[in-house]
Amino acid sequence: MNLLGNTPARVHINDVAVRDGFQSETAFVPTEDKIRLIDRLSRTGLAKIEVTSFVSPKAIPNLRDAEEVMRRIERRPGVVYVALVPNERGCERAIACGVDEINLVMSIGETHNLANMRMTCAQSLEQFRRVMALTRGSPLRVNGTVATAFGCPFDGDQPKERVLWAVGQYLSMGMHSVTLADTTGMAHPQQVAEVSRAVLQAYPGLPLTLHFHNTRGMGLANALAGLSEGVVSYDASLGGIGGCPYAPGATGNICTEDLVHMFESCGVDTGVDLDALLGCARDLPAIVGHEVPGQVLRAGKRTELHARPAAA
Ligand code: COA
Ligand code: ZN
Repeated sequence: MNLLGNTPARVHINDVAVRDGFQSETAFVPTEDKIRLIDRLSRTGLAKIEVTSFVSPKAIPNLRDAEEVMRRIERRPGVVYVALVPNERGCERAIACGVDEINLVMSIGETHNLANMRMTCAQSLEQFRRVMALTRGSPLRVNGTVATAFGCPFDGDQPKERVLWAVGQYLSMGMHSVTLADTTGMAHPQQVAEVSRAVLQAYPGLPLTLHFHNTRGMGLANALAGLSEGVVSYDASLGGIGGCPYAPGATGNICTEDLVHMFESCGVDTGVDLDALLGCARDLPAIVGHEVPGQVLRAGKRTELHARPAAA
């Protein structure tokens, strides 16, 4: 039993730092650093790692080494290795590298989808149908992300019905799981609870993941709101880096070590070794060349006490 009463006591965490984080860095993160970090993250107990994107190298130059990274990482049994894919070409590249799962992304805000994927929603869905045809008969799992699910930075709030429509489209194509992504941190806890409840009521048993950015400081509160509705899978990024290069003002994902620290403090098991994760986070600023937003690394775990001041 935890603070949320009868909510599940085990969650699964997908670290997206090397994809959502590195895609928006101004400087290219060297391939060797990416591989070393992924191998280290693989040993922390994370359920999934989103390794890279098989997208156009012109659109996302920082992930132009997708093949090399995917082929050279150590594949630890039990960890699911995911790659973002925008179209058939990306799917073929991902299959050639033996990824476990592809993540197909469409923003339900038409304007953001056009800016990000250069496709209308109808065109994205058409691409996804073709991708699904390519994966048929293979062990590859397919996750569909509903991006801008909690608001589009251009078109504003999206009706719950539109989220449900997108989820329905994905499932009717045979996708195995769905992520609701708050691309630019517009979600608030009340909305997260309502949308998660509506999706799980419409599609009971759906493997649902929530993906939050902490742009307006509501990220961890949103994760708790999701948990209160029974959502047990979360994306987060080491150090809290991340952000979509095609969304104005986008900032980092919720921070993985802060999320793990919060869940574990509340008695919710993440399966993650927090100390090992903090070790990875400690080395991240040197890899990206700047400070990162994560807070627990700076403050220390809540159980790490300071020496009492000497008596005056
Ligand atoms: N992998 C590698 N290259 C690809 C590709 C893929 N999956 N898909 C397209 N390309 C290449 C094409 O070959 C073409 O190259 P060329 O200019 O050298 O001929 C170029 O990219 C443009 O292709 P086109 O089919 O005209 O696509 P586009 O310009 O309309 O771009 C996307 C569409 C989706 C490929 C591109 O916008 C993209 O990769 N976006 C990813 C955005 C992203 O990851 N955002 C953040 C995460 S949500
Ligand atoms: Zn994101």
